[in-house]
Amino acid sequence: MTTDTRGLAGVIAGQTALCTVGQQGVGLTYRGYAIADLCAHSSFEEVAWLLMYGTLPTAAELSAYRARLQSLRSLPQELKDVLERLPATAHPMDVLRTGCSMLGTLEPEEDNVRSQHDVADRLIAAFPAMLMYWHHFHTSGQRISVESDAASTAAHFLSLLHGTPPTAEHERALDVSLMLYAEHEFNASTFAGRITSSTLSDFYSAITSAIGTLRGPLHGGANEAAMDLIDRFADPDAAEQGVLRMLAAKSKIMGFGHRVYRINDPRSDIIQQWAHRLSAGTDGRLYAVSERIEAVMRREKRLFPNLDFYAASLYHFLGIPTAMFTPIFVISRTSGWAAHIIEQRADNRLIRPGSEYIGPEPRDYTPVELR
Ligand code: COA
Repeated sequence: MTTDTRGLAGVIAGQTALCTVGQQGVGLTYRGYAIADLCAHSSFEEVAWLLMYGTLPTAAELSAYRARLQSLRSLPQELKDVLERLPATAHPMDVLRTGCSMLGTLEPEEDNVRSQHDVADRLIAAFPAMLMYWHHFHTSGQRISVESDAASTAAHFLSLLHGTPPTAEHERALDVSLMLYAEHEFNASTFAGRITSSTLSDFYSAITSAIGTLRGPLHGGANEAAMDLIDRFADPDAAEQGVLRMLAAKSKIMGFGHRVYRINDPRSDIIQQWAHRLSAGTDGRLYAVSERIEAVMRREKRLFPNLDFYAASLYHFLGIPTAMFTPIFVISRTSGWAAHIIEQRADNRLIRPGSEYIGPEPRDYTPVELR
């Protein structure tokens, strides 16, 4: 009898020193550090360094790394031209996928000018710029400057989006979400990036594969789908009725459940606290609706919210358009993807699994004129 390995569920597909997901007694860690400690005391840039270099940076290293990312934010004119020619109706994930690919033609890895770490830093720094240049050009015709004085990726993103620097609270809320999204072991997009790297393809191709994989609603796209759901309901009672109807129709409720976690997503508790905190400045509808959906899902399906569910309302409270939710995931996860590409390359073997054949038995071929 063959075990059901559809979706590679439960299959150990390789080794990593980057992250533990759902390990008994350990929980979610990045290179051994608990996610709760990182979110309480660290920053996205520190986490990106930790993932890519393996150790926590010293204060001097961190400040140099922030300055380095800040220096890598500008976009070549050829890339701006492409962003202007993309349709205004494009999904921002497609904008980043295309932007990544285009940058790979302008600043290729193979020309030996830049290391793999350089490419990773460049992409982390340039993704917010690509997204915001395209957004402002197509919504208001402005060719914005994609540089800012902001030292953090979070503040830079919010500054470019809103045209003014964020409050310290808003910057920290986005920064925490970037740390939570940075890495998660062999999830689908990371695995796609590792597969691409395992063929000895280039860094940009691996990140482009990962972006395309993240886009789907069963993966990164769930934060956008969760927002669409939450925003549909006028109040918690309407949400309860609506979700019960969806469950009766066997629809999936986006932002709930997980392939690895069975009881709880540790990232959800942290993001929920921030969503709750920022809901204080709103009329409270979205947060109350979210809490009711969570209660219904626990009661009816014993399912818990994953990171994407409360990230959705948090991002909404930060004034971020829904279609940019998954692109934020890209900006953050590029650090994790990069660390995995580097790890894959350090001990590479082509990733090429086998399959169980379920097609026809061997049979005789009849030429078309005799059929
Ligand atoms: N809403 C309703 N039912 C759900 C559900 C959800 N979000 N997630 C899982 N289930 C149900 C399935 O319908 C299935 O029920 P069944 O056994 O009666 O058919 C059961 O729980 C197992 O789910 P399955 O989809 O087989 O688990 P998986 O490990 O293949 O999938 C996810 C994991 C994440 C893809 C899945 O939970 C999901 O689709 N969640 C919504 C999308 C999402 O939030 N993705 C982001 C993940 S971080």
